[in-house]
Amino acid sequence: MTDRTFTLNTGAKIPALGFGTWQSAPGEVAAAVEYAVSNGYRLVDGAYCYGNEQEVGQGLKAAFAKGIKREDVFVVSKVWATYNTRVEEGLDKSLKSLGLDYVDLFLVHWPLLMNPNGNDDRFPKLPNGERDIIRDYQHPETWRQMEAVLATGKTKAIGVSNYSKKYLEELLPVAKVVPAVNQIENHPALPQQEIVDLCREKGIHIMAYSPFGSTGGPLFTAEPIVEIAAKHNVKPATILLSYHLARGATVLAKSVTADRIEANKTVVDLDAEDIKKLNDYSDKLTKEGKLQRFVYPPFGVEFGFPDKS
Ligand SMILES: NC(=O)c1ccc[n+]([C@@H]2O[C@H](COP(=O)([O-])OP(=O)(O)OC[C@H]3O[C@@H](n4cnc5c(N)ncnc54)[C@H](OP(=O)(O)O)[C@@H]3O)[C@@H](O)[C@H]2O)c1
Repeated sequence: MTDRTFTLNTGAKIPALGFGTWQSAPGEVAAAVEYAVSNGYRLVDGAYCYGNEQEVGQGLKAAFAKGIKREDVFVVSKVWATYNTRVEEGLDKSLKSLGLDYVDLFLVHWPLLMNPNGNDDRFPKLPNGERDIIRDYQHPETWRQMEAVLATGKTKAIGVSNYSKKYLEELLPVAKVVPAVNQIENHPALPQQEIVDLCREKGIHIMAYSPFGSTGGPLFTAEPIVEIAAKHNVKPATILLSYHLARGATVLAKSVTADRIEANKTVVDLDAEDIKKLNDYSDKLTKEGKLQRFVYPPFGVEFGFPDKS
């Protein structure tokens, strides 16, 4: 899948497969990024919040030293919620850590403001232990700053992450630049079809995160995934990745394990019967109220996701 691409609303190409770096531990992530990029991955997804961009940068640098060209790798970073009123400062910090002078895509990581003057750079807390969040903050304000950093050339495109249909409907009427991407948790146990449909209508490309259900890959044992994998004689991971290709989305797979990084480059073409089985599974979970969202930090903010409302 490493040679497949989609086209963004900016006209730029974005790879169909991306390499995830969340929760990739220090001491592991540089080698993982170097291995992935040296072995065909052409998109690396990172974020200030992950606390490992310096090592991601080392991995990129090592791959570039082997002859991979900077312009052939699509690098993604995200502004963290404590920087949502200081977007350029956040981007500058990420660029410095990565050792790059631009990223290909910069995203609003989550649409909320955590106290920029709080007791921690990334996760400020109140004296009672709750997260220190500025509750009356209006998220389109961050988008105005994203539009301003786009003009600096320090990022080639701007987009959002974790935006529900409700939040997009608040943002789009006031946006001068339509986001190029919405990066959301997406897999058959959380299809988020209402967001996917709105994004398709507005020309916003979906990047699907946590395709395996995040840490430990809890979706590998889901019944329809196992059945379809057996039918195609492949591993469940292949089916979970192929699902996004069939939906026209970029998918981000994280691993720090060489043989898994290699295996995750494989996809199969799912047929109509497979797609129906996966959609039936999603519909059943929706009807039963059993959708599974694996990544939902305890912000205590109403983001407008139907499964959390
Ligand atoms: N925008 C956001 O808010 C947001 C949120 C979450 C994630 N993301 C992005 O999306 C990326 C992917 O999501 P994720 O990290 O949550 O989880 P994921 O990619 O769904 O799953 C990662 C887990 O699956 C394991 N794994 C990977 N390939 C495997 C294979 N072929 N066979 C068996 N196990 C395998 C990994 O183990 P090992 O690493 O130990 O091999 C790890 O435990 C992130 O890294 C990040 O870049 C963005």
